[in-house]
Amino acid sequence: MARRKDAQKPPAKAPVAAPAQPARPAASKPAKAPPPRRPSPLRIVFLCFRISLCAFALYILYNRLHAKPANKVKLDTDADVAPPPQPAAPTVDDEQQPAAFEPIVRDQERRDAILQAFKHSYSAYERDAFGFDDYHPISHHGTNMSPAGPVGYFLIDSLDSLLLVGLDDEYKRARDWVANVNFDLDDKFHTFEITIRVLGGLLSAYHFSGETDQVLLDKAVDLADRLLPAFDTPSGLPTSFVNLAQRKGVPDVDNNGLTSVAEAGTLQLEFKYLSHLTGNDVYWQKVEKVMDVIRNQPSKDGLVPIFMRPDTGSFVFSDVRLGSRGDSYYEYLSKQYLQTNRTEDTYRDMHDLAMGGIKKHLLKKSAAKNFVYTSELLPSRNPMTGALCQDHLACFLGATLLLGATDGNRLAVPPDETQFSEAQRDDWYAGKALIRTCVDTYASSKTGLAPEIVNFHLSPLKALQTNRDWFINSRKPGQAGIAQPPIDARNILRPETVESLFVAYRVTGDPVYRDWGWRIFLAFTAHCKLPSGGYAGIRDVDRVPVVHEDRMETFWLSETLKYLYLLFSEDSVVPLDRYVFNTEAHPFPVFEPSRGAAGARA
Ligand SMILES: *[C@@H]1O[C@H](CO)[C@@H](O)[C@H](O)[C@H]1NC(C)=O
Repeated sequence: MARRKDAQKPPAKAPVAAPAQPARPAASKPAKAPPPRRPSPLRIVFLCFRISLCAFALYILYNRLHAKPANKVKLDTDADVAPPPQPAAPTVDDEQQPAAFEPIVRDQERRDAILQAFKHSYSAYERDAFGFDDYHPISHHGTNMSPAGPVGYFLIDSLDSLLLVGLDDEYKRARDWVANVNFDLDDKFHTFEITIRVLGGLLSAYHFSGETDQVLLDKAVDLADRLLPAFDTPSGLPTSFVNLAQRKGVPDVDNNGLTSVAEAGTLQLEFKYLSHLTGNDVYWQKVEKVMDVIRNQPSKDGLVPIFMRPDTGSFVFSDVRLGSRGDSYYEYLSKQYLQTNRTEDTYRDMHDLAMGGIKKHLLKKSAAKNFVYTSELLPSRNPMTGALCQDHLACFLGATLLLGATDGNRLAVPPDETQFSEAQRDDWYAGKALIRTCVDTYASSKTGLAPEIVNFHLSPLKALQTNRDWFINSRKPGQAGIAQPPIDARNILRPETVESLFVAYRVTGDPVYRDWGWRIFLAFTAHCKLPSGGYAGIRDVDRVPVVHEDRMETFWLSETLKYLYLLFSEDSVVPLDRYVFNTEAHPFPVFEPSRGAAGARA
């Protein structure tokens, strides 16, 4: 999800982790000892101590020199991957795996607990901020993104979750608000954010209403028609913003009018589904054109820079990353293939190419525990280096790899490898390994919650000293208690890890994914739940007691709690072979483009 994420990020990332310098650790300074005159027992002990110090120093030097992460990560088997995080997480025990295709049954008790958390969150929003775009649960009030009025950012984002978890009265009240929402707002709104949250929320709620509530579809059409002018650029790539009342695209002046590849490549599921529902091909054509523009650019093994120019349709020399501004482009390739019931091979091919590029260029293994993680390429900074950091946002990739390897079908655990192509097999193991890493970013923090961005140690020694393979940037020893923790240390209730756990559980049936998800839920409840209602993000995942931020993000209800609820549901609830989730966790049904839409692709 979430690429909005960018708005939340610090304007500039903290500097890239420097390549390992074989710096001399303080311990490697053996003092010049005068020759002992008379060996006393004390002196012998002291000598032994010195000798061990020297040995230790040599060990450090050795590690420093060998600390370069491997360029290419080999993903052979589970044995190749570090054990699951300890002690917080249970171990995977093959003996205890369920038989390959036993149906997934509901865990009633845990699902009820998730439902209670959902009620605790939504009822506070309804009480304090009903209809507002953003909710501040500590000061008990709502705000809108624009003075022009609310756009349904929070409320519409929650609609299909209300239906899924069965809060029917709450749904009725929210739906009546939607019937009166006015999208004729004279201000600029983010094309991508409005599409994934508001358009996506309307379409998904329309589907789960039994495709009968015409008001929802009419609102979706009205909103989409106001978004369409964003695509009126020479290349067909959308502008980042659009004025909904004036129906005019508005370039992103803060980024020289550039559009990011995630913004342009994460509109397709929504607009294509709208074409399918209405029979009007124009939505389909606009977003398909965007994919043509991207497809026709040179890419490096399917990897693309994050910025593009709407005037020329070309890539701009910029970073390659799976975090903000890159992420959901990679998520939507296989999902476009799945959405039209696997009829468009071009998206399967783009997905396979991109996953190959990710495995070749971006996956690394951590220094001590061999956790597989995603790095970034930063050609704009230094063509030779990348950043060894991973956004929490990048944790969507585990789900993307597993979905791509299985097409959403259930597989045995361990899988029958004859079912796989070599690339699928690699995707399968890489996906599982990444999920384990993401779970460790929760399990190894003080609160059990993951920070916004982790950096990986280059030196195994550092990892051993701190007992974890990653650290939070700008964190200095003993600094955990300061009033202003580094911005990377926050947790703002993001969904990507539980999203991956949900997909992994559905395609494997392996109970370890439910256990991990449950631990994460307990940590959210322990640290983010507010007694007066709502859940709030925290400033520093390594500090207890926590300091809350006065904000409950919309994706807490639309994504995080939805994925947790589905994790503990039976697999006939939103089955993965019949639904695709948009990047904001709004499920759309799979369809075959039999109407005009298919023709539009000629
Ligand atoms: C998708 O394709 C499968 C196999 O060809 C078919 O059984 C199924 O009905 C199709 N689903 C939809 C929604 O068209």
